[in-house]
Amino acid sequence: MNDIPGIAITRRGALVSGAAAAAAGVVPLASEAQALPAEQPAATMPVTLTVNGKPRTMDIDPRVTLLDALREHLQLTGSKKGCDHGQCGACTVIVEGKRINSCLTLAVMHDGDSVTTIEGLGRPGDLHPMQAAFVRHDGYQCGYCTPGQIVSSVAMLDEIKEGIPSYVSADLNASAAVTGQEIRERMSGNICRCAAYSNIVAAIADVAGAKDVA
Ligand code: FES
Ligand code: FES
Repeated sequence: MNDIPGIAITRRGALVSGAAAAAAGVVPLASEAQALPAEQPAATMPVTLTVNGKPRTMDIDPRVTLLDALREHLQLTGSKKGCDHGQCGACTVIVEGKRINSCLTLAVMHDGDSVTTIEGLGRPGDLHPMQAAFVRHDGYQCGYCTPGQIVSSVAMLDEIKEGIPSYVSADLNASAAVTGQEIRERMSGNICRCAAYSNIVAAIADVAGAKDVA
């Protein structure tokens, strides 16, 4: 028993009275006890991108990724969110001619940039040659990774044409005929959980005119 002048408190008494107060719902919750400031609306910034050849301006929270800006603000949902961590390539888009993972970059960092998404490559009845090759070779199963695979492969073949060496294997000769090995190396950032890899490589090799796809 703790004796405070004028008040006698036992441990049991404190527990019983605390439980009774809680049961009666008179114990204030932490959230009620502290007055929280009113939620402030997020500050936004104007961002203009040229998306698939058309200027698009958005007022967005500067923390919004390019992927979310495309999907949530411009309703271009062809680019997929697989991992949101730069590990799967499902979100690949072409920015200023280079393929990037749009989940790893903020939209505000690309103000004024030109962006190409899967929607900008082709459309039903007028497919991009790479899209048509994926159809011909069954380069997909569930299709979730497919937009990223196609956008990435289009930019990847441009990298080869420009003589940009593979960042994976420096010994691959970018100026030599494209091989299946080189396609696999250069497309290694695009994961397919259905493992449709052999057909994906066949589709890309078809467009690249590659003979050795083993
Ligand atoms: Fe961007 Fe996976 S969603 S890399
Ligand atoms: Fe299903 Fe690639 S086709 S993840």
